[in-house]
Amino acid sequence: MRIAVAILVRLGSKRLPSKHLLPYDNQTYLGILCQRLMTQFSLIANGKIDLIICSGKDTVNDPLTAWCEKNKIQLFRGNDQHIPKRLAECVAAFELDGIIAVDGDDILVAPESIVAATEILEMGQTIVQTKGYPFGMNVSGYNGKFLEEKTNEWQEEKLETGWGRAFHDCVLKEVKAKDNFDAYDHHRYTLDYEEDALFFKAIFDFFKDQIYVVSTSDIVRRVEEKSFYIINKTVHEDYWLNFESEMISESKNENEQLRERLHKVIPGGAHTYSRGDDQFSYNTPALFERGEGCHLWTRNGDRFLDFGMGLRSVNIGYANREINDAFYHEAMKGNNLTRASYTELMAAERLVELVDAVEMVKFAKHGSTVTTAAVKLARAYTGRKRVLIPSEQPFFSFDDWFIGTTPLTRGTLEESAQFTHKFSFGDISSLEILFQSYPGEIAAVLLEPATHISPCQCENNFGNCMNCPGSKIHFLHQVKELCHKNGALFILDEMITGFRWNVKGAQHFYGIEPDLCTFGKAMANGFAVAALAGKREFMSLGDINEIGMERVFLTSTTHGAEMGALGAFLKTLEIIERDNVINHIWEIGGALKKGMIDLANKMGLQSYFEMTGYDCSPLFMWKDGEGHVSMELRTLFLQEMANRKIIMSYISPSYAHTMGDIDFTLEKVTEVFSIMSTVIDSGFESKINGPVVKPVFRRYN
Ligand SMILES: Cc1ncc(COP(=O)(O)O)c(C=O)c1O
Repeated sequence: MRIAVAILVRLGSKRLPSKHLLPYDNQTYLGILCQRLMTQFSLIANGKIDLIICSGKDTVNDPLTAWCEKNKIQLFRGNDQHIPKRLAECVAAFELDGIIAVDGDDILVAPESIVAATEILEMGQTIVQTKGYPFGMNVSGYNGKFLEEKTNEWQEEKLETGWGRAFHDCVLKEVKAKDNFDAYDHHRYTLDYEEDALFFKAIFDFFKDQIYVVSTSDIVRRVEEKSFYIINKTVHEDYWLNFESEMISESKNENEQLRERLHKVIPGGAHTYSRGDDQFSYNTPALFERGEGCHLWTRNGDRFLDFGMGLRSVNIGYANREINDAFYHEAMKGNNLTRASYTELMAAERLVELVDAVEMVKFAKHGSTVTTAAVKLARAYTGRKRVLIPSEQPFFSFDDWFIGTTPLTRGTLEESAQFTHKFSFGDISSLEILFQSYPGEIAAVLLEPATHISPCQCENNFGNCMNCPGSKIHFLHQVKELCHKNGALFILDEMITGFRWNVKGAQHFYGIEPDLCTFGKAMANGFAVAALAGKREFMSLGDINEIGMERVFLTSTTHGAEMGALGAFLKTLEIIERDNVINHIWEIGGALKKGMIDLANKMGLQSYFEMTGYDCSPLFMWKDGEGHVSMELRTLFLQEMANRKIIMSYISPSYAHTMGDIDFTLEKVTEVFSIMSTVIDSGFESKINGPVVKPVFRRYN
């Protein structure tokens, strides 16, 4: 297959005329580009791949004729305005099977990207683009026939700038750089402005003759180390528009296909509705291949900084070696034995030893299983039916007693939800009214100790309520007192707060002991463990010891005490205590919260963007001009964050997040807020690509 590298040169640039022929020593910038390629590619040097300067016919480009003759490089001059046509003409003139287009502005284009693109074209691909190298080091490649056919189809003339747009709707293959250059996406290696010439000059001065042989990664590292990138950092926003194209990447296409496959075999396309397509902006990858630390990777190697952390289940970090080893170690012991295991005993004893209110525990796999079990146990103990929950808290269980109280009632037994009543969190009178309305009928009050609404009226502004003067009289104490006065159980659902507010749970943080409590989510750093726990007086109803006692069939499941997951739980707990994980989580969340609030205030977005809650679990919200929650603004925010490789549909700080991640995030939030503040009053809807995100708990699709 005959493939040539075409260097696209246009001397008529208005910003920097004749920029390619700018002198450096005895060379020109274009000369350095060509010599670097010829030196680095044995392929080119051997003559197996042609190197062609590909320019327009306009007389402004005439000096190239003499320059090419002198430097013994082939010159092709074709269509002035239309780059793809010029490339197609070049393909025909040189009888090529494929062509790699290198922008003449990309003086330090990565030789590796040319090699990679060549290999892909040789495999029969029609369009290929490299990605992942810093800006100005990537290339595009085209199959010759495809290029000729495609350009013949086009009627209208297309702009030279943004010429990628000409291939709108074509499927391209993206090849990712082998090295990870993500940390250098603030570098720009293109010759467009005067400061770019100075930027390249600084690099040439540094490497001297080595510039022809030095590797891409060496250049990138030095540019970072010597801070050369600062020279040409300021770039006009419009500049980037030149590079917008609507080609469909094959990987995107692949993603789409996988999305379809998911929906074909899994109702909702995921096993949790809050993982669904309707919760994320359309540009968020539908699938990820793996996670490590606080990052997620797509199958084609794109890395995203994640603030979701597996629905808050991963508070140490993805793929933690110690925890995974602990899981594996237990799995190798058999994982699920015919009788109880030592691991199960150790895990139960550990939780009892850790949390004051816990005297007995039953492990399970899901939060819903244990909250439902808590309700059942309370009903069994009191012989009563009714349960009270706060209307402000969104989710307790997929079972009918709870989900039947949301708009999602289809398929539930109406009768089940009839016995669940809602009060207002923080308003004790709303609870008193219910106790008065159903005297002797209420089995339990079940609630999360806190969300972004604090139970404490200490006006501590989400500080440490353990030290607050009102810690003996806050809402949770009032609820407990009311429960006990009326013979009902006081149950705390610590699914989110557990192992986050404090290692001993929010119950310790707020200085209160529940009768029963439930844990899950972050217990085992993403491995499936949940627990119903609490006082022996209630838990022992699930016992088989007391002869003649009527039994309660309390969470009996085949996989409830899976050894691997419980081993992961024990190790997670060890790391949380050993490494002061909770402090870190509070600090990270606090820095992000403060940073985002400050930015919103600084950029005039304070009436649209609200961020509140405890530092260990901050919550943000977008509102329209009238103060109502805006799903449209939320979508735009998620979309722009995802464009910058950050997933932030909610915020779950973890031990894996560093202050460096927070700085990076705030830098990107600044860009996103800046976009949002310019479009917010002038019809931002058109900026949203794809459907607007929707609430999980809605009745209709
Ligand atoms: C407060 C609360 N309780 C219970 C659950 C149910 O947990 P799981 O999803 O593990 O069934 C959740 C899940 O989001 C929750 O947030």
